[in-house]
Amino acid sequence: FVSVCFTGCGSSGKTLAEVKEAGKLVIATSPDFPPFENLEGEKIVGIEVDIMAIVCEKLGVEPVYEQINFDAVLTGVQTGKYDCGMSGISVTDKRKENTLFTKEYCLAAQCIVVKADSTIASKADLNGKTIAVQTGTTAAEFCSAEGYTLSQYEANQDAKLALTQGKVEAWVVDDLTAAEMCKGDDSVKILDENMTTEPYAFAFAFGSEDLVEEINKIIDELIAD
Ligand code: ARG
Repeated sequence: FVSVCFTGCGSSGKTLAEVKEAGKLVIATSPDFPPFENLEGEKIVGIEVDIMAIVCEKLGVEPVYEQINFDAVLTGVQTGKYDCGMSGISVTDKRKENTLFTKEYCLAAQCIVVKADSTIASKADLNGKTIAVQTGTTAAEFCSAEGYTLSQYEANQDAKLALTQGKVEAWVVDDLTAAEMCKGDDSVKILDENMTTEPYAFAFAFGSEDLVEEINKIIDELIAD
């Protein structure tokens, strides 16, 4: 059997039938992003894990998680190494060019976190400051487009640590995750002004259209409930 790829070599996504046949959905995730996914001991828990459990149950397959750095999630999905990406992934026009997204199920924003005693009060004060972001995120993309000096970290908690250790003057991260990671920590504060708003969805490769359609129906049911 010789398979020749003319165009659309990006069509590496599994179909609904292929996933059902395999009996599992292989999901790439970076579990450093509470309340969406984080580690409790060795276990990956969070809102997206709960949603995915329902999705997989309705599909009649087992979720199989592969833990990787966030910046490898989308490429891993696009190349067919994983069936699905689940990581609080923001849907952007740029990502849509090579990723198939499900329906959006959450609206998040990028927010600015600073030390409690910082004089930075808004976005306008970030000029000339060094900002911590997680590698491969929309925060990294947005902040570099704004011309800020970036310090990039593979792991989200290291971006926060850079701020608390005074290596950077601000940390830009998704709002709900900032709230969760800063809960009970009065050494930092989250500014009121947000940078962008971004919807989240699960990511698939082109080729998975019928699978995504089926998952969209399940997401619709969950939202209606
Ligand atoms: N929402 C942002 C993005 O899509 C950040 C996601 C980071 N996710 C994670 N699991 N660390 O770029």
